[in-house]
Amino acid sequence: VATLDQLPEPGDLLPVTLLPGVVDEPILLVRTGEETVRALANVCTHRGAVLVETPGKAAQLRCPYHGRRYALDGRLLHAPEMEGCPGFPTDADNLPEVAVGIWGPLVFVSVHPSAPFESFIAPVRQYAPWSPSRAATPERATYGVAAHWALWCDNYLEGLHVPWVHPGLVRELDWRAYRTEALPLGVLQVGLAPAGATPLPLPEGHPFVGERSAGLYLHLFPCTTLNFYPWGLSVNIVTPRAWDRTDVLYQAWVRDPTLRGAGAGGALDTVELEDDAIVERAQRGVRSRFYQGGRYVPGWEDGVRRFHAWIREVSAG
Ligand code: FES
Ligand SMILES: [Fe+2]
Repeated sequence: VATLDQLPEPGDLLPVTLLPGVVDEPILLVRTGEETVRALANVCTHRGAVLVETPGKAAQLRCPYHGRRYALDGRLLHAPEMEGCPGFPTDADNLPEVAVGIWGPLVFVSVHPSAPFESFIAPVRQYAPWSPSRAATPERATYGVAAHWALWCDNYLEGLHVPWVHPGLVRELDWRAYRTEALPLGVLQVGLAPAGATPLPLPEGHPFVGERSAGLYLHLFPCTTLNFYPWGLSVNIVTPRAWDRTDVLYQAWVRDPTLRGAGAGGALDTVELEDDAIVERAQRGVRSRFYQGGRYVPGWEDGVRRFHAWIREVSAG
């Protein structure tokens, strides 16, 4: 939902909406310390007004509707004209706390965690060759795609399309040596660098030391991807806007500017536009009454299959 540079100091407030239009949950992030962020329901427990609409700093939260005040830990401090009201307040009058987790500069929230944050983030800790500084501000760019968000993810989750859709990328990525690994709550894809291409620098002890990785692509269900390239980290946040409209936010933390144009992450803008065009084409096609959903290509579309299974699972639950 956010990066730490968006709320750099203790007391900073950042209202966010978790997956607008889908989960659509107003949440307030509060920077509480050097390494800590609290997440609260950003909705007054009285008549339900959204409490904070602009980022800023405050010692307390005051509801603009009838003036109730809350502490930054969510405790109700004052409710006008409720003095002496029997049985008031109760815990239900405080702002509910929302589960929050942090990795590097990235802040995650969940309104209904299916598992502890640690099991969600463990693969990132295991495979990330590098983590940007918590204070660093990323470069940001947003791509609007005229397609359903899950079709964007379908495309992200396989390398079979690479030689067809990305003629430039095949020089940096040995697509035949591409592989996919299932994670508890996501998918890891690894591309290898052909001879002459720039490999991803891996630290000692990394599980893939000894192979020439071109890039590591981590999809965390449902809507976050972490892409490690020779130059650094690119994080995509996939935001559904409508059934046929998606925004993909790119956030880049550059570790080695001299490698910015090199390797599998060297021409991200071109690659994204190539992907977006083909995904929009699939969007127009999957609506056809003749389209039934094609067989998965063995060994190539395991990530897509896992993503679809995950959607079925959460939709049923
Ligand atoms: S809705 Fe917040 S005080 Fe009434
Ligand atoms: Fe692609």
